[in-house]
Amino acid sequence: MMLRIPGVLSPVQVAECRQLLQQAQWVDGKVTAGFQSAMTKDNLQLPQDCPQAQAMGAMILQALSHNPLFISAALPAKVFPPLFNCYQGGQSFGLHVDNAVREVRATGEKIRTDLSATLFFTDPDEYEGGELLVEDTYGAHSVKLAAGDLILYPSTSLHRVNPVTRGARVCSFFWLQSMVRDDGQRSLLFDLDSSIQQVNRDLGAGHASSVQLTGVYHNLLRRWADV
Ligand code: NI
Repeated sequence: MMLRIPGVLSPVQVAECRQLLQQAQWVDGKVTAGFQSAMTKDNLQLPQDCPQAQAMGAMILQALSHNPLFISAALPAKVFPPLFNCYQGGQSFGLHVDNAVREVRATGEKIRTDLSATLFFTDPDEYEGGELLVEDTYGAHSVKLAAGDLILYPSTSLHRVNPVTRGARVCSFFWLQSMVRDDGQRSLLFDLDSSIQQVNRDLGAGHASSVQLTGVYHNLLRRWADV
């Protein structure tokens, strides 16, 4: 399931990040690429341990921990510390799949990448190209979101970033391990949770139908979750 999560960061937070991004020292993005993706990856990244990346990463994780749509869709167990990239002057990232397991350098913790996320810091009219193209059984989906918005997609998908031919595309990207590793099961839980929210709006949260459906949700989650 692919999902756009609007307004993860407020305009004020985006402006704050853009100031930090300007001060930072960028390096070649191949530093976090696997063997195969290094051959097609051409962009810039912030070093993981630079103070700007750490400050912005903390801001993003804090925002996500209070975002009901993100929590409902991702059911996060572990989130990789956010990374930051920039594409400009024709830079692109060819078709690839993200590594299945990532190690957090600071702690040695391993994270299975169930979901990939990209959070945009630049608005679509600031650059030409730079679409994220995610392939699934329905074909290729083109993603280019407003600053502050985030796209969540299964890490199993082949994806690429089109060349940026004018301006610069600046984003954060990261992966997460979900409590529910199977995308189909996780999608069902998200649909059920969305339905329960609708029932709550229509009938009131204390209604017997809502209580019963909430029970079904938790019993499915109990069956499928690894924590
Ligand atoms: Ni990727």
